[in-house]
Amino acid sequence: MNQILAKRPLAPEVTLFEIEAPRIQRRWQPGQFVMVRPLPTSERIPLTLVTSDAVRQSVTIVVQAIGKTTKELAALEAGDAVADFVGPLGEAASTTKGERVVCMAGGVGVAELLPVAKAFHDASNHVTCLCGARSDNYRILDAELREAADVVEWATDDGSFGFHGNVVQMLLARNKPGDFTVGHVIGPIPMMKAAAEATRSWGLKLYASLNPVMIDGTGMCVGCRVTVGSEVKFACVDGPEFDAHLVDFDELARRNRAYRDMEQEALQHQCRLQKVE
Ligand SMILES: Cc1cc2nc3c(=O)[nH]c(=O)nc-3n(C[C@H](O)[C@H](O)[C@H](O)COP(=O)(O)OP(=O)(O)OC[C@H]3O[C@@H](n4cnc5c(N)ncnc54)[C@H](O)[C@@H]3O)c2cc1C
Ligand code: FES
Repeated sequence: MNQILAKRPLAPEVTLFEIEAPRIQRRWQPGQFVMVRPLPTSERIPLTLVTSDAVRQSVTIVVQAIGKTTKELAALEAGDAVADFVGPLGEAASTTKGERVVCMAGGVGVAELLPVAKAFHDASNHVTCLCGARSDNYRILDAELREAADVVEWATDDGSFGFHGNVVQMLLARNKPGDFTVGHVIGPIPMMKAAAEATRSWGLKLYASLNPVMIDGTGMCVGCRVTVGSEVKFACVDGPEFDAHLVDFDELARRNRAYRDMEQEALQHQCRLQKVE
């Protein structure tokens, strides 16, 4: 069970996996995630469900190899099985009907945006996707997005494709208040914060899909605590999506940074072990 049926590189360090998961395939909704443990010795990490295939009884996930556990997953091959694959977890993303929707994502967030954009589109909204990448060769899932949305525009940091700059700069350069009535943003914390600030006075309902550090993914460990307005929420069970204009992004960034030393140590430890072998 939970065998890897296919593996496909999408960009440097970004890999798509198709995983056999009949129960999750039947139940998942856009915006939900799974807790994955690649090896029996690995930590559990949250990864978003991207697509599914009823015939193959499979789901796809996309992983960017940035640390110890994501690198352990990226090293697995088709035919291998992941040790744990638990989900679907979290609440489904909010959708509306008949609105002008802007879906914004940066980096691997584009994979996480795909099912949400498709859900908005399937619910009769006009969907514009504004996506960001470091450069042309880091753009992912462009063809799939174009099938799922009405308009797809890209911004690259180095200007090698589309708008020269980031997604929020592209939004401000090409759009004005009133162009969109609903929005969804996912990506690095500074990007989500900038999107929230840029649209605060636009009268736009903006949802952000948050990425706090998660340990159990089921509301037990308090690791994913976030402040939304005056309320404390757990992203794994109350989210991961919240009203972007109410999220305390500075606190989220501080909490994610708190684990950095331990993560570096884990990665260095793994590198040293691999060297000895
Ligand atoms: C609900 C949810 C859905 C996610 N979906 C995806 C996905 O579809 N694809 C994907 O590639 N990643 C996704 N992530 C992020 C992914 O879980 C982390 O990249 C992963 O946990 C890092 O583990 P690691 O051991 O490889 O790296 P670590 O050694 O733990 O961290 C390496 C570096 O990444 C940073 N980092 C760690 N965790 C996060 C995080 N949650 N968000 C942002 N930066 C982090 C650390 O601060 C550090 O700088 C998601 C996160 C959440 C909360
Ligand atoms: S990940 Fe433990 S409470 Fe959310």
